[in-house]
Amino acid sequence: LQQHRALPQQKSALPMPGARGAHPPSPGEATIRSNAEAERCDVKDRELKFDIIPNDHPYHNAKNPRTVGRANEKLASAVEEVKKDGRTCLVVGGDHSLAIGSISGHAKTEPVIWFDAHADINTPLTSLSGNMHGQPVAFLLKELKVSGVPGFEWLKPCLSAEDIVYIGLRDVDDAEHSLMEDTFKKKPIHLSFDVDGLDPPLTPATGTPVPGGVTLREGIYVAEQLYKTGLLSAVDTVEINPRLGKTQEEVDSTVNTAVSIILSGFGKAREGSHSCSY
Ligand code: ARG
Ligand code: MN
Ligand code: MN
Ligand code: MN
Repeated sequence: LQQHRALPQQKSALPMPGARGAHPPSPGEATIRSNAEAERCDVKDRELKFDIIPNDHPYHNAKNPRTVGRANEKLASAVEEVKKDGRTCLVVGGDHSLAIGSISGHAKTEPVIWFDAHADINTPLTSLSGNMHGQPVAFLLKELKVSGVPGFEWLKPCLSAEDIVYIGLRDVDDAEHSLMEDTFKKKPIHLSFDVDGLDPPLTPATGTPVPGGVTLREGIYVAEQLYKTGLLSAVDTVEINPRLGKTQEEVDSTVNTAVSIILSGFGKAREGSHSCSY
């Protein structure tokens, strides 16, 4: 199904760290460009070349600090220029350490959505792997005061802990866990849960169903995780409307779904509830 839309020309720009050789464009670059242009985006490519700094000894556990630091300095100015030009900036990489330069160059960064299985909040002192991609959040946070890293003399941490939202975390190192506990303020959470966020067959008795929603497994997971924070202090569950069920079955599945979300938010765990003192 081809949609014909009269879209205003969108401007975007693509600094491509990691792409090699100015001409011809890499296959990935060409694919992005042609697809973006089909969406009527006005694409302006930039390619950044980075230097490998010789004798780039580790700083504590942080590997290749000078090479990564200088590359990020370059990236930060490139992103800054793109933003001055009034464009939306797309960076395609590459190692997640590039977020240090990208977010610094963007500067207007509230909030940052960090979509990742990992928290990437290790410091050069806590990192077990030494990989810079596990550390960008620490470098960016004012609270963590990472300093003295060679190659990063230019960097001024620009994020506050309250500016960052994590989505997808599922592999957090022990040290990262304690860093996060110390850094992120524990504010009470309000969950306002509209059942139409779920996929319609789960809660058919609702007024404005939209196809393509969240599965029951995912919905329960969200509620369970929020319960586990110990910070959930109010919950709305809304748009439950039994009168809109076309059959008793529709009413039942709507109510049962809502009940399982509510129970999960109040501590029911699918693995079975147990206290930790055996
Ligand atoms: N926590 C691990 C580390 O610090 C894994 C980080 C993975 N990060 C990434 N951007 N791939 O090494
Ligand atoms: Mn990497
Ligand atoms: Mn990452
Ligand atoms: Mn990751």
